[in-house]
Amino acid sequence: GRDGLAATPPMGWNSWNAFGCDIDEAKIRGVADALVASGMRDAGYRYLVVDDCWFDPRRGPDGQLRAAPDRFPGGIPALVRYVHERGLRFGIYLSPATRTCAQYAGDYPGATGSRGHEVQDAGTIAAWGADYLKYDWCSPSGDLGDLVAGFRLMRDALRATGRPIVYSINANSHQDANPGETHDWSGLANLSRTTQDITAAWHTGLRGAGCLGISDIIEVNAALAARAGPGHWNDPDMLEIGVPGTEGLPGLTPAEARTHLGMWAMMAAPLIAGNDVRSMDAATRDLLTNRDVIAVDQDRLGRQGRRIRGTDVQVWVRPLVEGVAVAVYNRGDATADMAATTAEVGLPPARGYLVRDAWSGRQWTSTGALTAAVGAHDTALLVVRPLP
Ligand code: DGJ
Repeated sequence: GRDGLAATPPMGWNSWNAFGCDIDEAKIRGVADALVASGMRDAGYRYLVVDDCWFDPRRGPDGQLRAAPDRFPGGIPALVRYVHERGLRFGIYLSPATRTCAQYAGDYPGATGSRGHEVQDAGTIAAWGADYLKYDWCSPSGDLGDLVAGFRLMRDALRATGRPIVYSINANSHQDANPGETHDWSGLANLSRTTQDITAAWHTGLRGAGCLGISDIIEVNAALAARAGPGHWNDPDMLEIGVPGTEGLPGLTPAEARTHLGMWAMMAAPLIAGNDVRSMDAATRDLLTNRDVIAVDQDRLGRQGRRIRGTDVQVWVRPLVEGVAVAVYNRGDATADMAATTAEVGLPPARGYLVRDAWSGRQWTSTGALTAAVGAHDTALLVVRPLP
């Protein structure tokens, strides 16, 4: 993934968490308009990514992929133009092996996986003007060597097109454990998924089977900090902020939604919104567009934050170009008071420090003590800089 792309974690929107396979070109155009009108684009959410199920279940006679003609009658190039004209970048979805995930799951007909078509498909999406590819492994067979070989083939095919295309991979939709966690993909892709699929819940605990809640994902992704850096980010999956709960799960509370965004920023994660931005409420929009939190996520030093202590109440530090971001992540079920020091979070001695609360924008000076009261499942996020 060290090819000059994704110098900071990509930000954007993806169709899957809100819509699944239920996508069409009118919806996607509506999302493009809403990204602009809501201020999401200007806050940094640039990549509009169309996930699984956009394609005709059958390739053309020349082996060419085509859009599903009923739902995308105008075709992908026209849709890409629409997206580009709005100052956004376009992302699209393909799968290695023989089927996409929805096809393996039996939710979508056909077998349009890119195995044996890597060069052709990379050429197709490059010619259409794609700026981003999500490449999603779902074959139930194949060992780690097959996964690595498959992801490498597409990386090389994308490079050969000469078009800069951000390469986002998911090795986890597979019957074996969690290859995104156990194998280091940082040399291969700009983003690599570290866990199974996320769902709009705090905790499911379903490691190895089913979807994970955000507190579960943080625990997995936390351990992989050393792999992340400019051009090669850990991807703890797309945002569930503003996405209703499914399958009897309640969705995220306001505190949990703050933790989701705040901890993704601490972990230098891609911020790919997953909600229906055409109908989001003001609270969702205000959270997603919080400038201070986005600035932490996009800090150009490009270091993934680390937990320095705690289990139920965790203190995290992310070094920034200037100063550090400190998070107090309350994983427990009771309100907690936390005290840390500027020395403990790695700041040099100074006559004082400027502390800024990323949620409220409130600022104060400190001589070294950092304190926060944090509600259950909430996260305090402080940006701390030595005074000159
Ligand atoms: C599994 C991925 O983790 C999801 O984000 C989504 O891309 C689906 N596959 C699509 O089938």
